[in-house]
Amino acid sequence: MRYPQEFIEELKNQADIVRIIGDYITLKKKGQNYWACCPFHGEKTPSFSVSAAKGFFKCFGCGKAGTVFQFVMELEGSNFSEAVKTIAEKAGVALPVMTNDNDAKHYEERDKQRDDLRQLNSWATEFFESNLESGEGRIALEYLAKRGISDESRRQFRLGYAPNSWDALSSYLQKRGATKFQIERSGLVSLKDSGSGFYDKFRGRLMFPILDTQGKVVAFGGRILGEGDPKYLNSPETVLYTKGQHLFGLNYSRDAIRRQGFVILVEGYLDFLIPYQHGVRNLVASLGTALTDSQVRLLGRFCRKIIVNFDPDSAGVNATKRSLELLLTEGFKVNVLTLPDNLDPDEFIRERGAESYTKVLRSSQSFMDYIVEQAIKSHDQNSPAGKVETLNEILPYLKLVKDRVEASEQVERIADRLKLDSKLVREEFKRAVETRAERVSEVAVTAQLTVKPAEKRLLAALLNHAGVRQRILRQMAEAEYKQLRTAPIFKLLFELEQQGSEPTYDVLSERIYDAALVNDLLPELLMELAEKSEEAYNREAEESLLSLRSTRLAEQQAVLQTEINQAQREGNAERVNELLLLKFELAKQERALTNQLRP
Ligand code: UTP
Ligand code: MN
Repeated sequence: MRYPQEFIEELKNQADIVRIIGDYITLKKKGQNYWACCPFHGEKTPSFSVSAAKGFFKCFGCGKAGTVFQFVMELEGSNFSEAVKTIAEKAGVALPVMTNDNDAKHYEERDKQRDDLRQLNSWATEFFESNLESGEGRIALEYLAKRGISDESRRQFRLGYAPNSWDALSSYLQKRGATKFQIERSGLVSLKDSGSGFYDKFRGRLMFPILDTQGKVVAFGGRILGEGDPKYLNSPETVLYTKGQHLFGLNYSRDAIRRQGFVILVEGYLDFLIPYQHGVRNLVASLGTALTDSQVRLLGRFCRKIIVNFDPDSAGVNATKRSLELLLTEGFKVNVLTLPDNLDPDEFIRERGAESYTKVLRSSQSFMDYIVEQAIKSHDQNSPAGKVETLNEILPYLKLVKDRVEASEQVERIADRLKLDSKLVREEFKRAVETRAERVSEVAVTAQLTVKPAEKRLLAALLNHAGVRQRILRQMAEAEYKQLRTAPIFKLLFELEQQGSEPTYDVLSERIYDAALVNDLLPELLMELAEKSEEAYNREAEESLLSLRSTRLAEQQAVLQTEINQAQREGNAERVNELLLLKFELAKQERALTNQLRP
């Protein structure tokens, strides 16, 4: 069986030779290369080396050398297509489905079309480049100068200009020998509505060629000179170009990325070109979209560390967040850089220089800090519901931290950052992370973050009348207040009662560490304006206690319900029944309480 060339090239792009050979033998990094004892001949000191940068292996002992394909064929004694299959599996690349001769023919035809299109793209690149040197192209040269692109850079990146004409490029391509059939499928022209004929797609635009890792032009982006819509026009998908499979600039920056051990991911063409021109070379541009998994695998061949530096606007924030999951899943260490004053890398470097840029790079945040800051910014941190949403926004990213110890350290750090003073909220947060829940229990968290009216009434009575305090505390169990926002006050009241001391503001404020309780709630409770009789306080205390008990039963039922839902999703019928019984029991108790409340 013969695999299509298109697929073999994709596989070459995505297969990391170090990782794949490293599956067979233990490689040690020394300098730029990796070393091991040669698997093809017996030896005690390593003379077998793998060059990640050049994508091949060589043994200085026995002289064997080759690509990852040859390594696998040689070691497994397999033929080429068997080796392709092995490597594809190891690299996580899906094999194309081929069942019969027709498919093989189809792929041969496609391979031919790809060769043709490479030729057309190469002609088009030359055409665009040459336009810059003459006539109409002068405005594009002026534009480049205005954007700070040097002559050297525009030559190196083969920038060009598409004249404002309906057929300049297509006539040129025909003159070079392209057929109408080839031009129609090149992505360089648009088909006329009438159904026959075509016209140049890129007109009056500055042209950026997009290269694959072999340095061949696969597509173009064209920027309008000045204002206009769309600002950038991009090649459609063709036999050579699938969106989300290439990274702009990688062909130029790959060596710098390997050397420096990390890559900076930016959004736009200029965000790549300007830093590159100023000497920041280890970067690639995603071209205004979130990363795809094949782009992430491609990058993984060059490094395992990334700093995402997208625009600080909402589109950039979303693209950053969407990229994180993929990057982390592929095992990247991820940091995020948000430039000050809403600048993108292009603007920042032109305004403040490459040195400042390298400096701010060092201050980039870990991805988790970034996520937490974003979540804090987008929800009201003073309302319990806002806190719940903040936690829920962070949860999915904590799941991506595979190391348990690290995850639990993160949970503590985040809880501190969110000022989650309550032990129970912290526990609920931990529980959600450990059980990989989608959301924290809203009931458990909000109950902890809000002081209920009944809670206030009960405390007011307890604080303001010693007799009431004695009687009511005797009826209360720890479990009844442990869940409440004001648990520290209750706890202290119990302690003071045992010691026979009075709960004065002085004592309370000294022994309670929750600022919100001490500064806002306690004065309000202690400063009751209208003095009430013991009887009134007693009645209020008893009613409030009943009401708290019934709320607690309702909350426990709600928690059970989320567990029931989970068990149902997991198809665990036994557990569902067990939980339902518990829930019925709680409902019964709650009804009994409500009846007491209604005289
Ligand atoms: P931006 O709008 O951030 O543009 O889009 P930019 O890169 O800063 O462009 P300049 O500096 O004004 O020239 C970021 C990237 O998104 C893609 C392009 O790849 C662009 O570089 N994009 C943007 C499009 O594909 N089409 C558009 O209309 C706009
Ligand atoms: Mn820009």
